[in-house]
Amino acid sequence: MRIVLVGPPGAGKGTQAALLAERLSIPHISTGDLFRANISQGTELGEQVKSILSEGGLVPDEVTVAMAADRMARPDAAGGFLLDGFPRNIAQAKALDELLAEGGHALDAVLDLEIPEDEVVRRIAGRRTCVKDSSHTFHVQNKPPRAPGVCDVCGGELQQRDDDREETVRKRLAIYHEETEPIIGYYREQGLVSTIPAVAPVVEVTRRAIEALPARG
Ligand code: AP5
Ligand code: ZN
Repeated sequence: MRIVLVGPPGAGKGTQAALLAERLSIPHISTGDLFRANISQGTELGEQVKSILSEGGLVPDEVTVAMAADRMARPDAAGGFLLDGFPRNIAQAKALDELLAEGGHALDAVLDLEIPEDEVVRRIAGRRTCVKDSSHTFHVQNKPPRAPGVCDVCGGELQQRDDDREETVRKRLAIYHEETEPIIGYYREQGLVSTIPAVAPVVEVTRRAIEALPARG
């Protein structure tokens, strides 16, 4: 299955993507995690995008689409994938459609995680992220690690993400409304969108998401 997960910063895309990907046996592809891995490894791409991420802006489309295409071309993604944080504007959505069409494929579903802004702020303020792998995320109240400040998965140190400062979060939210929300209309015209109310316990949101997916045949 080929799925896109969309929603504002802090909606729980990463949290749900990890669970859904495991459940559906498809890779979780997060452009945010890929950028952060490049930054922490000090690659040329990482150097190029570092300041954009810390300021909460969007990385240019050519760079993002090339990186996402590369990842989607890997063998583990041949049978499907779950995209988290990509596409993030109409140009990226069109580029994705073209990429898929070249391989004779199309998207099966777009899950839109719906959450009010005050909950975004609460979730992001309490989020702690693993320095070794940014897909390992915790929350001081909702999902505390077993040992304070230590990742349950890999033992890495937990920190607040660079772009999780309040001012940067406000900027990311504004960009979300302006650039990313329009893709929901774009996909709605293709009949692909399911809106998932995402203020609920993590397992309940996963249940709603699974229920919204088309039956596999
Ligand atoms: P990205 O990493 O994609 O960030 P984002 O979209 O802002 O999303 P977040 O990672 O902040 O939140 P999330 O929805 O994954 O929430 P999470 O599951 O962690 O992008 C970062 C940057 O990279 C961008 O700003 C941009 O610069 C660049 N970038 C990435 N993709 C790009 C693209 N396509 N084009 C251009 N630039 C791009 O959950 C949040 C917290 O809430 C956690 O602490 C979690 O434990 C908790 N939580 C989760 N679910 C629940 C629940 N149900 N109840 C209570 N708490 C919960
Ligand atoms: Zn970790």
